[in-house]
Amino acid sequence: MNSLLQAKPLSSHTAKSLSGVCRVPGDKSISHRALMLGGLASGETRISGLLEGEDVINTLKTMQMVGALARKDGDYWVMHGTGNGLMLAPDEAFEFGNSGTGCRLCMGLFGAYDFKTIYKGDASLSSRPMNRVLNPLREMGVQVLEEEGEGRLPITLQGPWQTAPIEYVVPVPSAQVKSAILFAGLNTPGITTVVEPHLTRDHTEKMLKGFGAELEVETAKDGTRRISVEGQGKLVGQDVTVPADPSSAAFPLVAALIVEGSEITLPDVMLNEARVGLITTLMEMGGDIEITNKCNSGGEEIGDLIVKSSELKGITVPAERAASMIDEYPVLAIAASFAKGETNMLGLHELRVKESDRLAAVARGLEANSVPCEEGEDWLKVQGRPDGKGLGGGTVTTHLDHRIAMSFLVMGMASEKPVTVDDGSVMETSFPGFVSLMNRLGGDVR
Ligand code: S3P
Repeated sequence: MNSLLQAKPLSSHTAKSLSGVCRVPGDKSISHRALMLGGLASGETRISGLLEGEDVINTLKTMQMVGALARKDGDYWVMHGTGNGLMLAPDEAFEFGNSGTGCRLCMGLFGAYDFKTIYKGDASLSSRPMNRVLNPLREMGVQVLEEEGEGRLPITLQGPWQTAPIEYVVPVPSAQVKSAILFAGLNTPGITTVVEPHLTRDHTEKMLKGFGAELEVETAKDGTRRISVEGQGKLVGQDVTVPADPSSAAFPLVAALIVEGSEITLPDVMLNEARVGLITTLMEMGGDIEITNKCNSGGEEIGDLIVKSSELKGITVPAERAASMIDEYPVLAIAASFAKGETNMLGLHELRVKESDRLAAVARGLEANSVPCEEGEDWLKVQGRPDGKGLGGGTVTTHLDHRIAMSFLVMGMASEKPVTVDDGSVMETSFPGFVSLMNRLGGDVR
């Protein structure tokens, strides 16, 4: 787990140009879900391309604590699951480190069992709201025995003898909340239904179907989705191929756009429609991004991105797009810093409760590096400077937030002066090897 004691400052210096081909690590959302369902389903699950970042490894350890068997076999992780409804009571508390996805999804997965589970995390995760998951779980009959303050970790849950199925309208656009309820529904008799007014990443739905769950999705004309899962069915182990993470590809992608004379290729990037908001936005800003070799891999569309440096222009990014690029706003703010004119980003309230208050962290980082910006309750306005003159020279506080660290290291590649982040070790949560990958492309991060 990261702590300030191990803080590792890093600086990014102006890069000449970026070139080459680089595959970014596997998708974090799919990696978590593959371990959870592989650890639950009967029989063998073989996972290739798993992200071996700290967040995902914490999920792996958690699954082992409830009876799943896991081993590495060459490029594969092989899981032997307990069987649905058959997970074992853990002996100790779970440690989720920095990972909201690991923690919230596991609360759903284990909360519906008649045993006690204890959830812990680092300082960032311990400050994040958990009531969004605890409230629907309480409706299903799960008891919250202990919590710190209002819905904060450490949290102790105790499932009832049998949970009750619910129909739940998710009040915030959140794939984590949706997934936690569907996972709780797996060990609940009858049909558990989640209603989401707007599409959020749908990896849980796709993967549950792949593992054999009885799951139905109905989409109304206004986009509202009703997702119903029948509990206590059999889940069967599967082969899972984890595609490259579009949220990690976002960093070399933006770097290549803003560093003059660059051309890079990012292979196998997942192009799920609920994850491509950044690509759409950067194209609207004038980004030269070509998508080739599109194909389907393990139920997800993937493709190669060919990215060339471009003259970007500021635009307004509509609030409706937020869910499809929720993790990408920090790095979009960096692209906006090098665009002609002003970029307005709207509908950002969820950024306040990510690994850090990302809206504030981005605004303070931009200010520290001489980028004019304005921060509202749920919006951000950035005034760009295409030649990067006068930009940089500041130190950014990462607040245990990997995406803040990587975003500002990308900024330093195109700004006149270097950009320093106070702690680069946080990047291990989602993107091990970030520095060497960026330097291989032509960056100068040290
Ligand atoms: C995730 C959902 C999103 C995202 C997070 C991963 C997931 O969170 O920010 O990085 O894997 O379900 P919310 O569900 O809170 O929007």
